[in-house]
Amino acid sequence: MKNFNGNFCIITYGCQMNLHESEKIAGILSDLGYNQTFDQNNSDVIVFNTCCIRENAEQRAEGNIGALKKLKKSNKNLIIAVGGCMTQQKEYAKSLHEKFPFVDIIFGTHNLEDFKELFLKKLQSKKPVISIEDKEGDVREGTPNLRNSFPNAWVNITYGCNNFCTYCIVPYVRGRERSRAPQDIINECKSLIKDGYKEITLLGQNVNSYGNDLQGVNFAYLIDEISKIEGDFRLRFMTNHPKDFNEQLIKAIANSTKTCKSVHLPVQAGSNRILKLMNRRYTREDYLDKVDLLRKYIPDVSITTDIMVGFPTETEEDFLDTVDLVETVKFAGAFTFIYSKRKGTPAATMDGQIPIEVATKRIVKLIDIQNSINREQSKGYKGKTVEILCEGFDDKKKMYLGRDTYGRMAYFSSDVDLIGQFVNVKITKTGGISLIGEVVK
Ligand code: 5AD
Ligand code: SF4
Repeated sequence: MKNFNGNFCIITYGCQMNLHESEKIAGILSDLGYNQTFDQNNSDVIVFNTCCIRENAEQRAEGNIGALKKLKKSNKNLIIAVGGCMTQQKEYAKSLHEKFPFVDIIFGTHNLEDFKELFLKKLQSKKPVISIEDKEGDVREGTPNLRNSFPNAWVNITYGCNNFCTYCIVPYVRGRERSRAPQDIINECKSLIKDGYKEITLLGQNVNSYGNDLQGVNFAYLIDEISKIEGDFRLRFMTNHPKDFNEQLIKAIANSTKTCKSVHLPVQAGSNRILKLMNRRYTREDYLDKVDLLRKYIPDVSITTDIMVGFPTETEEDFLDTVDLVETVKFAGAFTFIYSKRKGTPAATMDGQIPIEVATKRIVKLIDIQNSINREQSKGYKGKTVEILCEGFDDKKKMYLGRDTYGRMAYFSSDVDLIGQFVNVKITKTGGISLIGEVVK
């Protein structure tokens, strides 16, 4: 039904999950006839896909939504929609409407697939359309996609999360874990590969618990089956949970010629006391055992992680346990976060909230340590030739860029467009986390 003319722009906050969901909203608007633009000033429809995992993501989104009031005044037909994790919280959706009455559509994560209906309803009504579902629905197939990340493609395998880590808002805004049927996932992968996509990233809050709500399938099975698909492609997945990351899965990864030698295994903290308070359900010893097992089957595997500092009651000693774990594992990369209090989570009401100055000091130290690990690891790349999947062109650097199987980013020059091709790149310069090289035949 291509009934409309005009442009739409989607602004996304947060993780890959959100980026992929924005591709679905883009698919819906594109099916209606709108064209995608990345320029808000030239848009007839602007959608904010929000994230509430940390306070700063919320603040950024609010600032940017507020700034649209002017645009709305100068273009009366402009439609502004706000959806995602922030607005899934009913109370928040209500306050957003009160604060920014010019927002036309407010929806949540549970009814993203209904965006077309909500949008059409708004076109027929002068009043804002506010629709937040209390409960997540069953998995729904068939939502269109307008993908923006060629040659990479994201594929959902699970929605929601059952883990209830005490700091995390995700289980409250995304509902219980639901797995897509394996055949739907495999068919989507096949069609992406047929369309020329070269890298598939399977997405879930905890991909390792894929299939717990289905009969006779698990994540290892899915890796096996997707790896059997013919074609020249890479397989990645995120994110993992150490408590569910087991030997059967490690073997499946090791045996798959398609799966990249890179695993993101969020540890969060190195102190057993803090891990327990976080309800992570593993100890630092369990985590280190999994790392050893992974390295036993895939000796050169690159392991990346998420780490949080400043969780309630974290002492200097707890923090030093985290530092010690980081120095022991030698991660290939770490996303580091200062704990952010999320209303409605158990940690938000725990005694012993840590002052921001203390948490800031800790994160600075941690980043410093991780950076020196990265610099050390980068040195090992010098002179080596690595296979890179060329993913894009960096306008500032005027160079192409892409990643190797370990997830390491490299930049290189070329006179011809290499996007979507596997290229051999000889690394000539190493610095921090990214590398510079030249294409070799
Ligand atoms: N504060 C800070 N970081 C958080 N994360 C999740 N919830 C919070 C929070 N309340 C981090 C975790 C998770 C990553 C996606 O975001 O490290 O792995
Ligand atoms: Fe949040 Fe824990 Fe679920 Fe990850 S596993 S989404 S950190 S509750």
